[in-house]
Amino acid sequence: MNTVYAAKRIGVIGSGSMGQALISGWTRSSSSIVAVVRDVEKYQYLEGSLGIEVTEDREVLSACEVVVIAIKPQIIKEILADFAPFIAPGAIVISVAVGVTTEFIGNCFPQTNEIIKAMPNTPSQIHMGVTCVSGGHGSSEASMTIAVELLRAVGDVFVVPEAQQSAVGALSGSGPAYLFYLAQYLREGAEELGLDGDLADQLVRSTLRGSGELLARSDRSAGDLRRQVTSPGGTTQAAMEVLDSQNVGEAVKSALAAGVVRSMELG
Ligand SMILES: NC(=O)c1ccc[n+]([C@@H]2O[C@H](COP(=O)([O-])OP(=O)(O)OC[C@H]3O[C@@H](n4cnc5c(N)ncnc54)[C@H](OP(=O)(O)O)[C@@H]3O)[C@@H](O)[C@H]2O)c1
Repeated sequence: MNTVYAAKRIGVIGSGSMGQALISGWTRSSSSIVAVVRDVEKYQYLEGSLGIEVTEDREVLSACEVVVIAIKPQIIKEILADFAPFIAPGAIVISVAVGVTTEFIGNCFPQTNEIIKAMPNTPSQIHMGVTCVSGGHGSSEASMTIAVELLRAVGDVFVVPEAQQSAVGALSGSGPAYLFYLAQYLREGAEELGLDGDLADQLVRSTLRGSGELLARSDRSAGDLRRQVTSPGGTTQAAMEVLDSQNVGEAVKSALAAGVVRSMELG
């Protein structure tokens, strides 16, 4: 617990996929986490599985030095004002909501002027996430230091301007979904070729893990590593030609762009 934030009480509003990914990453380093939920029965299991406090009582937020907002952008605008009276003046508020600006949140929480935007991803639950953090509405260097350290506990952290949050959200925030999509179709394709489902599943998982690790550790580009696997006239080249003929590369770029457009719409 030798961290700047270990002694801080963290309140989390929104305990869905992202909220739980962050909480499960933080429980290793912080002993004081409270999840504020709207149906305590639904989330009671988090007390046992993650060892945190779960409550419907928003009052607990007034004792939290860090408040994390992890609710859907579609509803955030309706409910933030309800939480405002319970946020302690001077608390650091970290929002992970796609598309919602720190200025908007700052206007909902007039007594709190330290709003930080963060774009994590779900591998945070195994401390292998990546989060892009931006100082926003009134945030100080000290609050950024705490936010960066807090998020570093669940993976890599990059500081980016808030204006780039939509782009990094489309890349690393949604990124796990693109890779799981690929994994899903690799497995289905392998089964159609006659491989046993369990074997196909293990081969896909191990291939993604090994390839991800190779890319992370290598100083070569993804394109170079791909060419290393692709002997001229070989089997991989035959497969790559199918992907190229179907413009999969361009489809990936269009998918990223669609994510950015949707982020702007949600904001
Ligand atoms: N999922 C990702 O990979 C990812 C990545 C980056 C950023 N984000 C951002 O993270 C945020 C959460 O996304 P998610 O995927 O975790 O969504 P989610 O799984 O739907 O979780 C949203 C949570 O908010 C809770 N909630 C709604 N209204 C509430 C209220 N009044 N009080 C307390 N809790 C309330 C929901 O509780 P109920 O069960 O009661 O409805 C649910 O637990 C979004 O803003 C998203 O943009 C997500």
